[in-house]
Amino acid sequence: MSVLVTGGAGYIGSHVSRLLQQQGQKVVIADNLTSGLISRIDDATLLELELSNADSVALLVSAIKEHGVTKVIHLAAQKQVGVSVQEPEWYYQQNITGLANLLAAMRQTNVTQIVFSSSAATYGMPDVDLVNEDVLCAPINPYGQTKLIGEWMIANAGIAWGLRGASLRYFNVAGTGWPELADTAVMNLVPIVFAAIKAGIAPKVFGTDYPTPDGSCIRDYVHVLDLAEAHISALEYLDRDDRPHSVFNVGTGTGSSVLEVLAEIKRVSGIDFEIDVVSRRAGDPPALSADVSRIHQTLGWTAKRGLKEIVESAWAAAN
Ligand code: WQD
Repeated sequence: MSVLVTGGAGYIGSHVSRLLQQQGQKVVIADNLTSGLISRIDDATLLELELSNADSVALLVSAIKEHGVTKVIHLAAQKQVGVSVQEPEWYYQQNITGLANLLAAMRQTNVTQIVFSSSAATYGMPDVDLVNEDVLCAPINPYGQTKLIGEWMIANAGIAWGLRGASLRYFNVAGTGWPELADTAVMNLVPIVFAAIKAGIAPKVFGTDYPTPDGSCIRDYVHVLDLAEAHISALEYLDRDDRPHSVFNVGTGTGSSVLEVLAEIKRVSGIDFEIDVVSRRAGDPPALSADVSRIHQTLGWTAKRGLKEIVESAWAAAN
């Protein structure tokens, strides 16, 4: 019996894959290695493929049969909001066709359990700061749309052929469980600030004129190790519950402002860097934090780490 982890050579996926392997679970990683690193896969079996290619269905079917895959954790996707606005067709092809091919292979091999990497981006710009899973989802960019559509696809497969899924809506993921699995992409606040500091450039704050206590945007930063543990909990949940599709926020339930994150980076790094306040970034909601009562009540999961551990682990890995 083994678990197929798509995107398992990625930042988040490799944390999930390592935890599974530490539990003694056999892992098969499907990854196109365009951003994933082969150095991250430990003893997992690697299936290098592009999920969105038509021939991937047959490749997945044979790998599922060969390795006795009984469960899937699907993380492989493109996740850059800005790029998704400029290249929507590519995002639909990568994120939606990729999932459609995976579901087709699972149906053919009667693999009926999936944990899906969804996103807080499915909410768009909600009119509440603390969102629960019943808040209307109105994604404001193609990336968020592909994640919401992915949830629908899994729910519909549940109706059509008995798939059971848990969709995890990630809030802002950061930090690292191990230095060698750190986020190497410079696409989100913490790595962007680290890169600026190292380049001797003042990191930019996209607006301090928001209706928040210090004027900067608030987000729910969740440690990647906590997030990976949530995937394990969700997989175990699918074994004991027969609901077709469940959605869970994955965050800490506590928001941190951009300026608070920068202050923590100053504390951890010991570098009193200048800050460059610039105009707002389009599409940024002022505040977005997770109501995490459902995942706690249903899966018994709660984040164990906060902003301090996030910044300390990320900084140690970057130096
Ligand atoms: C965080 C805050 C920026 C860079 C991401 C992605 C997606 C999703 C949710 C999983 C914002 C501010 C940023 C900078 C800044 N997660 N910022 N200066 O936009 O909240 O969403 O996480 O799917 O990964 O949508 O993340 O890290 O870009 O920004 O002031 O140089 O930091 O305005 O308030 P975001 P982010």
